[in-house]
Order: sequence, then structure tokens, then C-alpha cells
Amino acid sequence: MQPVKILEHLPSLPLSKHKGKDLLRIDEFDGQELLELLQLAAHIKQMQKHGQPFQPLQGKTLGMIFDKSSTRTRVSFEVGMYQLGGMAMFLSGKDLQLGRGEPISDTAKVLSRYVDAVMIRTYSHACVEELAQHASIPVINGLTDLYHPCQALADMLTIWEQKGKLAGVKLAYVGDGNNVANSLVLAATLLGMDVRVATPVGYELEKSIAEKAKAYAQKSGGKLLLTHDPVEAVTGADAVYTDVWTSMGFEHENEVRMQAFAAYQVNELLVAHADREYMFLHCLPAHRGEEVTAGVIDGPRSFVFDQAENRLHAQKAILAALV
Ligand code: CP
Ligand code: NVA
Repeated sequence: MQPVKILEHLPSLPLSKHKGKDLLRIDEFDGQELLELLQLAAHIKQMQKHGQPFQPLQGKTLGMIFDKSSTRTRVSFEVGMYQLGGMAMFLSGKDLQLGRGEPISDTAKVLSRYVDAVMIRTYSHACVEELAQHASIPVINGLTDLYHPCQALADMLTIWEQKGKLAGVKLAYVGDGNNVANSLVLAATLLGMDVRVATPVGYELEKSIAEKAKAYAQKSGGKLLLTHDPVEAVTGADAVYTDVWTSMGFEHENEVRMQAFAAYQVNELLVAHADREYMFLHCLPAHRGEEVTAGVIDGPRSFVFDQAENRLHAQKAILAALV
């Protein structure tokens, strides 16, 4: 994959086949389709930087259901829809009748009569699947306890921009085998990356997801190493990624987690094992002094704000393809 330079026109990519589809898991797309979405995202980003409008969603509306807090997801989806010519509507889960017991199936059918797509951030992935099953419009997963597919696409875009390729790039994830890790590892193995994951015992990637990722790596020519040793994961890495030790919904486990993860901090000693030109990545929000030191996240090898910006561009590509 070559860095994108064309600005005059969008690439002719086979994207119309995605119209009307949901995005619940990143591996609903295969490696080739992910590359096409990344190319679209890169073009949309370049167009925006050069003041060229791209407004395929004029008159379209996105409903955004949030059962958990958000800064990046909420703002980037809302701004993204506006920039694509449409509009987005924030719907707090607890203020919807859903929060008072209205069935998910009825909510899905009603929203399908008003809006052109729904983005949802909630706890249970099964709830999002149920919403998608009953909705006649695309449903986009804005984070569940199991997955964060929009984040993974932005992560791949950020690595591609810096490294000029994805296949063969060494990506280390250190910390909790959580929603962000699951989606990151699925995307990276689909795209042929050399993925190393270091988690404490008891906090590994979900077994079925690790199995799928192994199969994707085999097919794409990538690699997947699962270890409990952060140094093994980070040695020679081109990118070092971590996320919070206590995700939303797991706050009651905080004390136990702080102990379990103490040896998994991404700090100066650990990143000394990475390639000199390594990138530090984090989906944010971050807890300095816990999963990462201030010296690393605020240091010269950190790309976390490019990564946050790329949520906007990646999601505009997703919206343009699905809606
Ligand atoms: N990374 C991410 O999804 O951030 P928010 O929780 O702020 O949306
Ligand atoms: N793993 C984190 C990601 C937040 C964007 C959480 O679920 O809270």
C-alpha cells in the first residue's frame, strides 16, 4: 500500500457493496476491504486538509446512543456527519425509553423510521447485535465490552501513515486483553502485521478472538504471539500500544487490577526494548502513572493525538461506505 497523494478525485474503490451493512466487529471486513476503507479514509483526510468538501451524506441523519461516557467517539461522529453533509443526534441511553425498559427490538424498528444509521456505545455486545438484527438501517458499534472497531480502523490508519505499510510491521500491545485489544488484534492480523500481545495471567484476549486472530494471521502472512512477558512483546516493536487497566464498567475491580497490571506499565525502561523509531499509541483516555508514564505518552515517539484525530477520518470513511 502506497502513501496517498491523489487529491483531485476519490479512488475508485469497490465500496458500494458495503451500503446498508452494519459494523459491529472489525472482522466483518476482510483484509482487502480494510485496506480499501483505509485508502478512502486517507483520501478524505487529504481532501479536508486541502479544503475540498466531500459531502455524500447530504440530508442523512445518524442517531448516536450512548450508555457510557465519551469524548472522542461522540465528537468525531458528530463532526464527521456534519462534514459529510448530514447531521448527528446525541441520544443518552438513560433518557431514551430504552432506559425505562422499552425493548431493544422496538427501539431498533422505531429509529429505523427516523434516521439513516445508528451508532451505539453500550456494555453488552449482545445488545448491539440485537439492535442490528431488528434495525433496517446500518448499526455501527461505538464500543462495547467486547469490541471497539472504529478505534481499530483509526489505529491502522495512524500506523500506515507513519510506517508507509502495515504488513510486517511489528505491533506490541501491553496490558488488558479488553475491547480495544480485541479489535486491534483482529484488524492487525487481517492486515498481515506481526502482532505481539502481553497481558497478565487472567487478563488475556478472549480465547475465541485469539483463535480467530491466529487464523487471520496465517492467511494474511502475519504473526500473532501471545505472552505474559512485556519485554518479549516489545522487543524490536515498531509500535507499542496500551490502554487503561480498568475499562468502563469494571470500576469495581479497580484495586485488584492495579496490582495485577503493576508489571505491565509502558514506561521508559520497557520502550527501551522497542525499535528506536517506535510509535507509542493509546486509544485515550489515558491514566498517566498507571498504564503509561507521562514521559512516554507526552514524549517525542507518541502519536496519540494523531490517532485521536484519525478517528474522525476513519469514521467518515465508514459512514460514507455504509450509509
Ligand atoms: N478512544 C475513545 O473511544 O475515546 P472516547 O471514550 O472519548 O470516545
Ligand atoms: N477500554 C476502554 C476504552 C475507552 C475508549 C474502556 O472500555 O473503557
